[in-house]
Amino acid sequence: MQSLDRFAQSRLDDLQRRHLRRSLTETLREDGLWVERDGRRLLSFSCNDYLNLSQHPEVKRTAAAAVERYGAGSGASRLVTGNHPLYAELETRLARIKRTGAAVVFGSGYLANAGIIPVLIGRDGLVLADELAHACIFAGGQLSRGKIMTFRHNDVAHARELLIRHRSEHDHALIVTDGVFSMDGDLAPLAQLKALAQEHDVWLMSDDAHGLGVVGGGRGSSFANGKHVQVPLQMGTLSKAVGAYGGYLCASAPVIELMRNRARTLIYSTGLPPAIVAAAIAALDLIEREPDYAALPVQKARQFTRLTNLPEAQSPIVPVVIGDEEETLAASQLLADEGFLAAAIRPPTVPAGTARLRLTFTAQHPDDAIERLAGLVRDKILVR
Ligand SMILES: Cc1ncc(COP(=O)(O)O)c(C=O)c1O
Repeated sequence: MQSLDRFAQSRLDDLQRRHLRRSLTETLREDGLWVERDGRRLLSFSCNDYLNLSQHPEVKRTAAAAVERYGAGSGASRLVTGNHPLYAELETRLARIKRTGAAVVFGSGYLANAGIIPVLIGRDGLVLADELAHACIFAGGQLSRGKIMTFRHNDVAHARELLIRHRSEHDHALIVTDGVFSMDGDLAPLAQLKALAQEHDVWLMSDDAHGLGVVGGGRGSSFANGKHVQVPLQMGTLSKAVGAYGGYLCASAPVIELMRNRARTLIYSTGLPPAIVAAAIAALDLIEREPDYAALPVQKARQFTRLTNLPEAQSPIVPVVIGDEEETLAASQLLADEGFLAAAIRPPTVPAGTARLRLTFTAQHPDDAIERLAGLVRDKILVR
């Protein structure tokens, strides 16, 4: 065996031993709710398509029309010839929803975080991130070559302590947090973080991947609970509640113009396919028109947390923390045997010892299915 293959095999064997090996399972998503896997139909509680818009007839029709009009691919970086006419409409709409001066769309949420942070923070800078922030925030921090520090989850006092000790060692500093935490479903204390950032001359960035479309009347986490916190850097993705693909940053006009000039993941990567941009526009149109529909995923998640006596859901994401990896896989299998898809999430996606089922609720989940799932989780998984 070549040394490269030996290396790969020994890493795989190690993952297998620790119950951390993953595999790609072919999944046919039939509609916004049901999936087919290994010949079985399962009701999915694991998709981030919170509003089921990836399958919405109007969204699909708009995407198909864009393929006919503009073709399948964009053909080049946006800075060259890939900036097709649909981008301007999408960016205007995003800036309007987030109430910022401008917006810029990237190839994905991951590419957005990997691109934005190094534009703002250099070798002498500080990235202060919540310890549970998404992996791509840390990727952006590493690419910036600045110092990365983490504060305890949602602990503003700890973030303050770190800034008091270290802010003066850096030219610029950025606090960055998920707005809605991807594996825990809770919300960041954005108002307090904003005040802290102002006290210490620090910039604040939120990652609203799981907030846009489903919290704050569909506008996202900086509009949660009826209050608007003006977060100067609001990034997010178009791949979850919006049902399409792509990432974005909403910020002031000069910040966005700087991104267009300096963000390497924007400059050196091909523009999104026109159909995807068209789908995102159509989906945002529905979200803006139908705030009651946008409220449904959180309502459904709360129905589940009430029935299981778990802490009240703040977003469509509900973690059922089990701890042990093997037991988590067994719980996922138990639910699969009952016709539910509930993916097991294991380290390193979540901290060691906190393996979990990560359940996601969507607008169209039937109430009786939620009741049956809650009964199984309450009586067969949480009691173990
Ligand atoms: C909090 C968070 N940020 C960023 C991303 C990346 O977004 P995308 O899937 O568009 O790359 C994700 C999910 O994948 C996420 O959960």
